[in-house]
Amino acid sequence: MVKRDDVFRLLLEAGDFISGEALSERLGVSRAAVWKHVKGLQSEGYTIEAVRNRGYRLLPNGVRQEELFPYLQTKWLGREYKYLAEVDSTNIAAKNWAAARAANGAVVVADLQTQGRGRLGRAWSSPSGTGLWLSLVLRPRLAPERAPQISLTTAVGVCEGLKELGYQAGVKWPNDIYIGGRKICGMLTEMHGSMESVEWVVVGIGINCLNRELPPEIQDTATSLAIAEPDKPVLRAQVAAVVLNQLEKYYTILYEQGFAEIRRRWLENNITLGKRVKISTLNETFFGEALDMQEDGSLLVKREDGGNFTLVTGDVFFA
Ligand code: BTN
Repeated sequence: MVKRDDVFRLLLEAGDFISGEALSERLGVSRAAVWKHVKGLQSEGYTIEAVRNRGYRLLPNGVRQEELFPYLQTKWLGREYKYLAEVDSTNIAAKNWAAARAANGAVVVADLQTQGRGRLGRAWSSPSGTGLWLSLVLRPRLAPERAPQISLTTAVGVCEGLKELGYQAGVKWPNDIYIGGRKICGMLTEMHGSMESVEWVVVGIGINCLNRELPPEIQDTATSLAIAEPDKPVLRAQVAAVVLNQLEKYYTILYEQGFAEIRRRWLENNITLGKRVKISTLNETFFGEALDMQEDGSLLVKREDGGNFTLVTGDVFFA
C-alpha cells in the first residue's frame, strides 16, 4: 500500500517540482490518492507548493530520517530511527522500543508531542513544526551509579552541537542548555536495569527551534533558536543531525576515556559556577554560590547560611 512516506520520499528526491501525474505513475496510485497524501504531509507542517501545470514542490522543514542524511555523520547513533508525526511522549515511545529490544543508538523523533514531559513531573510544551523532540535509546556498559554521567555527557554534546551551528550556548547544572540567559533545551533521562548493571537508558532531549512564541508561563525564562537569533535560518533536521554527531562523539569519549574528559568539557561550557543560585531540593530551599562540579558530577554549593552543600539531585535557579 502506498503511504504518505512514499510520497514524501519522491518529493524529497525530486528536490524541485514534480507533477502529480509523475507521482501517481511512479507509485501506481490515482492522482487523488497522491493529493490526499500531500494534504497529510501539509497537515504535519510540511510546506508543499502545489502549482498548476508544474505539480508539487516540497520544502524539507521537518525531521524525517531522510532529511537528516545530508548532515548525519554518525556510525551508530540515529541509524535506527523512528519518526512519528504525533506521539504522547518520545520518551514513552523510546522506553517501549527499548523494552522491545531497540538497538543501542536507536532514536525516536516526533513532530508533535501531546504529553511532552519535563523533569520532576512537569509538562514540556511540544507543539508541531517548532522544536526538536527526540529520545535516544542507549545501552551503556556502565555501573548504575555512573548513569548521571550520561546526562552530563548529553549536555556537553548538545551544547557543542549548538555551538557548531553558531549559537552561544552554555550549560546550567546539570544539563539545561541556555542561550542569552534563557533555557533553550532540557533533558529527561530515564534508566532501566538492576543494582549491578544498566540495561538501557532513554535520554529525552527537547530543543526549542522555530517557536516564535512560547507559552506565557515560560516566556520570561525560555527561548528558541529563532527567538535568540531571528535572522539565522533554522533547519530542524540539521540541528538534529549535528547534535547527534556531537553526542556520538562524546558518548564514545565517556565510554573509552572515562568521565574526567567529559567533566573538563562540561566545565568549559558551564554557565553555573561562580554564580549566585537558589537551590531547591526535596527537603529545603536555600541560596548560595555554585563552586564546582565534582568528580562524580554533583554540584558543590557554598551556602549563604554557612557551610558547603553537595547537590546530587534538585533544581538550580540563577538568583
Ligand atoms: C526538562 O528540562 O524539564 C526536561 C525536558 C525534556 C523534554 C524532552 S522532549 C523529548 C522527550 N520527550 C519528553 O516527553 N520529554 C523529553
